[in-house]
Amino acid sequence: MVKKISGTKDILPQEINLWQRVEEAARKVFFSYNYSEIRTPIIEEESLFNRSLGKTAEIVKKQMFLIKAGKDVYALRPEGTASIVRAYIENDLDKKSKFVKFYYIGPMFRFERPQRGRLRQFHHIGAEAIGSTVSALDVEIISLADSLLNAFQITDHKLKINSLGCNKDQNGLRQLLHKQLKYKLNKLCDECKQRYKKNILRILDCKNPSCIEICQKLNIGDSNLCFECKKHFADVLEGLDSLNIKYEVTPYLVRGLDYYTRTVFEISHSSLGAQDALCAGGRYDNLVKELGGPDIGAIGFALGVERLLLVYRSSGLPVFNQKLSYIITLGKEAKLKGIKLLNDLRRAGIPCDTDYEDRSLKGAMRAANDLGVRYVLIIGEDELNKGVVTIKDMQTGEQREVKREDLLTNLM
Ligand code: HAM
Repeated sequence: MVKKISGTKDILPQEINLWQRVEEAARKVFFSYNYSEIRTPIIEEESLFNRSLGKTAEIVKKQMFLIKAGKDVYALRPEGTASIVRAYIENDLDKKSKFVKFYYIGPMFRFERPQRGRLRQFHHIGAEAIGSTVSALDVEIISLADSLLNAFQITDHKLKINSLGCNKDQNGLRQLLHKQLKYKLNKLCDECKQRYKKNILRILDCKNPSCIEICQKLNIGDSNLCFECKKHFADVLEGLDSLNIKYEVTPYLVRGLDYYTRTVFEISHSSLGAQDALCAGGRYDNLVKELGGPDIGAIGFALGVERLLLVYRSSGLPVFNQKLSYIITLGKEAKLKGIKLLNDLRRAGIPCDTDYEDRSLKGAMRAANDLGVRYVLIIGEDELNKGVVTIKDMQTGEQREVKREDLLTNLM
């Protein structure tokens, strides 16, 4: 039997309800922040990602799914930002309105060693605001990410934030690190020895204990930032304070993609274990220009849906199929009434199903429970005689009798 590729998942019908609820909640939040949806292709020219994420980025070096077609090489998109910037430039969106706010929901692909919370096909819910460098936009983007997590009822998440500064600041930091780490090279892990030559900033967020120890002694702080970048970062933090959004300034947060400048952030959740980043993002003020567009700033983030669902499940929140009602009938006459009721409810737009298999009340209740339905509608001899239907609310456990003619208003 042919099996699915390791690190990919079938999202089965019993799970899809949760996915749809997450997507629905996300769309509502995006709407309230005035972000419009954008959908870009899943395959892109390989060069788009080499140019934007950086040749030394792990994703580009090791994790891209490449497709050879004739003389061309395409890549399954490993992330959404580069594609959206490409679409912004290619469709002349800057000519229509310099400042745009997009959101996207869709699959991404990375050839990684699969583990809990790390897949080869996973999904992003993301946002990109293109066309401005003002610090208020950094605050809006972080507040948007925070509002999404609130809408998903996630608590206990932690926001880490840092400023990488502009290109000049980053070059200064690279030089500083080259100098300071020169005599400590033998204590760094093998990967960081390579990073020292090719991508020295990444040493700062290496998870190897001996590298962490060395980095912590470097005492970097924000000393590498120029006056403008320091001011921008201070304004971002002030804005977050005014919204009462808690954060931790983390000088070693550098992120794995080359396009970042100034603000970078990560939202983590302890229930995720080793892969604890739930959401991440930052500014990329040079990327639009580097990909052939105007010289304008931008910022965005992406949230991993599979990781969100892991947190959601570990928080023990009940997963109810909010909308579905389920009719259980007892006896032949009730069954006929039940089929008519099923038809009436469906035609009135109320999602509804029934137990066609004549199970006992207990067996049918179990089936309803497995489906995760919200309301069970019971019609037995007693209900027939009284002209009522018994409604059991599966979320609260409450049970009551409702007249047949009042049923619709009770289920709307
Ligand atoms: P990223 O940090 O590579 O950023 O991914 C964002 C989120 O996607 C992570 O925090 C994590 O929740 C999830 N994620 C990443 N890799 C995997 C995986 N293999 N399996 C499951 N979930 C995963 C970006 O992609 C940037 N484009 C974010 C951004 C938008 N920056 C600016 N705008």
